[in-house]
Amino acid sequence: MFKTETIEKRIDELLEKMTLEEKIGQLYQSGISPVGGFEISIQEAEQLLEAGRIGRKEYERLVNAASFDEREDMIRKGTVGSFIGVQNPEHANHLQRIAVEESRLGIPLIFGLDVVHGHRTVFPSPIAEACTFNDELFEKSAEIAAREASEDGINWTFAPMVDVSRDPRWGRVVEGPGEDTYLASRFAAAKVRGFQGDDLSVEDRICACVKHFAAYGACEGGRDYNTVDMSEAKLREVYLPPFAAAVKAGAATLMPAFNDINGSPCTTNKWLLNDYLRDELGFDGFLISDAHGIQECVFHGTAETPADAAEQAIKAGCDMDMGCEYYTDCLPQLLEEGRVSMDEIDRAVRNILRIKMACGLFEHPYVQKPEKSSKLCAEHRDVARDIADRSIVLLKNDGVLPLKADQKVLVVGYFGDKRNEMLGAWVISGREEDAISLTDALKEENIDFDFVPCIDSSITSMTLDKEQLEDALRNTKADTVIALVGESSFTTGEAQSKSKLELIGGQTEMLRMIKAAGKKLVTLLINGRPLAIPQEAEMSDAMVECWQLGIEAGHAMYDVIYGKYNPSGRLSMTFPQNSGSCPMYYNHMNTGRPASDGPWASKYRDCPYTPVFPFGWGLSYTEYDYSNLTVKTECDKLVISADITNIGNMEGEETVQVYIHRRRASHTRPVRELKAYKKVYLQPGETEKVTVELSRNELGYYNNEPRYITEESMFDIFVAHDSTGGLHSEIYF
Ligand code: BGC
Repeated sequence: MFKTETIEKRIDELLEKMTLEEKIGQLYQSGISPVGGFEISIQEAEQLLEAGRIGRKEYERLVNAASFDEREDMIRKGTVGSFIGVQNPEHANHLQRIAVEESRLGIPLIFGLDVVHGHRTVFPSPIAEACTFNDELFEKSAEIAAREASEDGINWTFAPMVDVSRDPRWGRVVEGPGEDTYLASRFAAAKVRGFQGDDLSVEDRICACVKHFAAYGACEGGRDYNTVDMSEAKLREVYLPPFAAAVKAGAATLMPAFNDINGSPCTTNKWLLNDYLRDELGFDGFLISDAHGIQECVFHGTAETPADAAEQAIKAGCDMDMGCEYYTDCLPQLLEEGRVSMDEIDRAVRNILRIKMACGLFEHPYVQKPEKSSKLCAEHRDVARDIADRSIVLLKNDGVLPLKADQKVLVVGYFGDKRNEMLGAWVISGREEDAISLTDALKEENIDFDFVPCIDSSITSMTLDKEQLEDALRNTKADTVIALVGESSFTTGEAQSKSKLELIGGQTEMLRMIKAAGKKLVTLLINGRPLAIPQEAEMSDAMVECWQLGIEAGHAMYDVIYGKYNPSGRLSMTFPQNSGSCPMYYNHMNTGRPASDGPWASKYRDCPYTPVFPFGWGLSYTEYDYSNLTVKTECDKLVISADITNIGNMEGEETVQVYIHRRRASHTRPVRELKAYKKVYLQPGETEKVTVELSRNELGYYNNEPRYITEESMFDIFVAHDSTGGLHSEIYF
């Protein structure tokens, strides 16, 4: 962790010299304010971009061309401690020079930006990357993002997002690792290691900000920002472990979520931010509110005035205020009135200075121009392609895939040539022109193909041009059609919740017409959340989940559908039958009337109780056989092993998943819980023994006190290819 005697002493000395105004300045993060005839903040520029009122080029021009920032005087006075949105080394150095050379105490600024899935080299969206089940790659992509971002003067990313979410209606599932706590925890720790390395002061590493703390993904009805009401036991068991894993891995900062939990907004939730995070987990970095999160406590209705909100937030332990200036405006008065103490202000300043020191900002405040920029270098692109290959999930294959390089194909659908759609949600520094679409890749590989979109370019209607499709189907010599369907990335992400998960517009009709024309149908899904696609899965000869794969999307789709890469991705979220059956997730409780086709069972009348594709699902071009499961106890540990054999004709990588079910407990337990996974790479005919050890502590649960219970029980153990089926054994442990 970050506390050392030397650092705390340096902070003491600095605190002694700081005026109240300078202290409060450290607690304020501002957006940049480019001036060029008019003045807008970075948030406003982002909103203009998102609303389509300015293009990406204009946005970048606005943000990067700023030669003067109206907040420069604030830096000089020491009344701002951090900026969000600077992504240009000259700009960062310009502002930093004012802080270091022209402010009274020379305290450096810390520059933050949302570097969510890559910087200039855009990697697959987190929900897709999670499908690799590959900790090494989770870490690698974060390391590359940190290297590229640090060249642009960024010290700190608002990532990783580690919100477990079981509800695909929530648009932000695209930004996180999916529905499972265990996978999310491994993802969280790997990301922190990747961004931060072992030493934050190394110049190509940046601080992580783990978000959104906590249970943001449990928003009622999947509606963004909505309320969360849950037992502490469930919170501790399902939603908090990824944060705990990130803290254990050394996360420098965390971000309280917008939502309330049981009536208390996370931004002002003392139990969460202080008692749990600092006292229980031993966190000693700092917390930054989400954008205007402190102000939003007034809208939550738990604070009457800005002063109330500021008082509650600082007392709860929210150290830095992103964007709303409530600390700046209200803390002096609150101090005077005795509602907030100097100790409370000092505590927040101390937490922030500690991280600034750990980052080496006092010694090396400026970003050095590297001799050769690493941004988008061949090595980074190769890693992006590798991760994109591994993120793809082969959902169904009736023998049509892989395609042959010399067969003619017809490509249809809105996404066929859309480079900007490949980048995905939450991309700030990535560029459309760096991305490869499927048709780009097919051209590069000299595949004989026709491309007819057949779907109009409105991302909210996606109307089918039947005539165009009929003509294309009539005129083509291809027997196989690759259809790209899904949802626009601009309808995924923050504030993009949906009540309908079915394909919009004429996309399903398009698939139907292709089948009716007697063609083989290969459906590629481009989406940021699980969709409800039972009929589409049924009518497709092959279905491939391609998510939002980043700049190497087209290459990766080509690699998988042409068999250059044997697909190995596994779903990080369950695919439901329809929108109304959400949330649907694999580790649900059994209930007293377990789901079945029987009359009085926990199920829906109008759709199957099983998902279309379960968590952990994913096919390959080879087949794996699981055998010889043994489960025994050794030194108070469960030792589980099984042999995995590649019984097909192609080498491949298998993700072996270990699930448990606790049969006896004072509280109901999920039907299955993922407790371990391991990757094995097997040549045809090769067998490898996979062994996993689980400690008693890993098998515990919370009762309603809530107390962590590790009592003995009968356990079902499954070593499986996905969250259904697999080898089964039982043991008393
Ligand atoms: C989002 C955060 C993000 C922040 C800063 C907020 O609207 O919820 O995830 O880090 O903006 O861009």
